[in-house]
Amino acid sequence: MAAERKVTTLDLRRRKGKEKLAVVTAYDATMAALLDSAGMDVLMVGDSLGMVVQGDDTTLGVTLAHMVYHCRAVTSCQPRAHVVCDLPFMSYQVSAEQALTSAGVLLKEGRAEAVKLEGGVQLAPTVRRLVDAGIPVMGHIGLTPQSVHQMGGFRVQGRTTDSALELLDDAQALEEAGAYALVLEGIPAEAARSITQTVSIPTIGIGAGPDTDGQVLVCYDLLGMYRGLAPKFVRHFAELGDAVVGAAQAYAQEVRAGTFPSSEHTFAMERGHTAPRAPGPASPGPVSPAEADAAES
Ligand code: KIV
Repeated sequence: MAAERKVTTLDLRRRKGKEKLAVVTAYDATMAALLDSAGMDVLMVGDSLGMVVQGDDTTLGVTLAHMVYHCRAVTSCQPRAHVVCDLPFMSYQVSAEQALTSAGVLLKEGRAEAVKLEGGVQLAPTVRRLVDAGIPVMGHIGLTPQSVHQMGGFRVQGRTTDSALELLDDAQALEEAGAYALVLEGIPAEAARSITQTVSIPTIGIGAGPDTDGQVLVCYDLLGMYRGLAPKFVRHFAELGDAVVGAAQAYAQEVRAGTFPSSEHTFAMERGHTAPRAPGPASPGPVSPAEADAAES
């Protein structure tokens, strides 16, 4: 069977209005390979890893080095899916030159195929600078997690006519600056529909209703593995968190019972060879005075 062709930014653009795009986050090679074999169109190395991998409350602590590390892990499995990597907080907001340098690192060291950044009209000149340098840029507007403190929390955006109009301006500015796709996060479905119908680049929604050109979810959310904050838009397509706990309990129980490993998981000496004789039955190692006191009490 011929190898399936790599998904490119051109493919994604051509599919607008024809086929919906299935996008998911990935942070490591094992998960990326599994998700890619499921036929995802885009693997997004999101800075959400600050929350779901590093365990922080926000994405603000994620560094460029973290993103390179995870992106390199994802691209190492040579996925068919297009791979886009987030520019983390403060790796692009200082200046367009800073953004160019940071994006270059993600492409050269992380092997990303595109970068994503958060922000609208104000970021358009930065997007233009990257695109002029040959770096594809995905925009991200609406609920932008890197602005969590400015938004006063992870809050839905664009609920009023004026703020929905601002989002539309943002989307158009990013398209004009050369962005090849747009993430619409945490906005009313009506606002997402109007942006999707206005711009000619694909929109990828998360908490933005059903009418965007594609959808993205955090992989641990869709697999039912993340047990932290669960926004209204998250749906578990499996309960792998429960499966992980169940498997780990079964493993621990067999280790304690001595039934794992059995002979089928055990190596033998070569024929005619024997192991050195042990001096006697093994006994537990020395017990510290503190452990002895605890055992007596
Ligand atoms: O960081 C991320 O994973 C994202 C997506 C959820 C859109 O930005």
